[in-house]
Amino acid sequence: MEAIAIAHANIALIKYWGKRDEALNLPAVGSISVTLEQLFTKTKVHFSDRLQQDVFVLNGGDAGEKQRLRVSRFLDLSREIAGSSLFAEVVSDNNFPTGAGLASSASGFAALSLAVNKAMHLALSRKELTILARRGSGSAARSIYGGFVEMKTGGNKTNAASYAVQIADETFWPLKMLIAVTSDAEKKIGSTNGMNATEKTSPYYSGWLASSGKDLAEMRAAIKGKNFEKLGTLAESSCLKMHGLALSADPGLIYWNGATLNVMHAVREMRKNNIQAYFTVDAGPQVKVICEESTAVTVKSELEKVDGIKEIILTSLGPDAKIIGEEGN
Ligand code: DP6
Repeated sequence: MEAIAIAHANIALIKYWGKRDEALNLPAVGSISVTLEQLFTKTKVHFSDRLQQDVFVLNGGDAGEKQRLRVSRFLDLSREIAGSSLFAEVVSDNNFPTGAGLASSASGFAALSLAVNKAMHLALSRKELTILARRGSGSAARSIYGGFVEMKTGGNKTNAASYAVQIADETFWPLKMLIAVTSDAEKKIGSTNGMNATEKTSPYYSGWLASSGKDLAEMRAAIKGKNFEKLGTLAESSCLKMHGLALSADPGLIYWNGATLNVMHAVREMRKNNIQAYFTVDAGPQVKVICEESTAVTVKSELEKVDGIKEIILTSLGPDAKIIGEEGN
């Protein structure tokens, strides 16, 4: 009862921030993301009657008790579906910095969902896999698919209502993303805690919820019509709106450092010089810059001039999560 899966990270162009239900991890708003080729997690899961508890090895070392419990609670869901009480060893490797706002929980729980589905013979459909992955981390549902992906909030508070769908695959529109890594430290306030604090204390929260439907509809249209200026403008605006919301929590959540702002200004400066690039930032200090294939090299050389960037990762859009190995019965 062993399987190995690979899933790619994703970055939201229209952001998810806030939960409708914490126990089921239902997002308060829908979101739209792109899946990334160059950033991925490979996860092996092995269920065995010789284990006394779940084990979680992350990037070659013990992941620590907090992460182990998060994975263990997630494994409980699949044990429930399978009617099994077997513990598992989960060995997961990210090829990028973990926990610093580079979507490691997204690719991590997506890969784990596929691996447990195969190892435990759950026979879940792709849609069901997005629902399972969402229980691990909201953004993980989107990493089940490649290309352009939308996460639906669903009309009610049931588990099955909120799932991800693919808008277009990675071959539809060959956009590029450059990730400007400004810090490889773990983020201080995880997304779940940040979202809860925001919902409880921000006076802007209702405005955020109210504007979500329009953002999603416009982004869907921008993708389908391959309107890059529209896509970039909407992405930048959704990012700033989400951070404005987080900043308005009490105490305010500041995910950026000085270099984050340097990159944001540099990207706006590029546009003044007719280089079409737009930024987006998640709950961490890294800046992701989206551009068309033809401008990627120019954008990269412009970013190399910005103070405070440790590393620039250039990536294409990536594929669906998939199983790459299996054993036992
Ligand atoms: C800022 O998916 O990490 O990256 O569901 O609590 O695990 P949980 O949150 P998570 O939040 C992602 C927040 C974001 C925006 C996004 O990816 O949509």
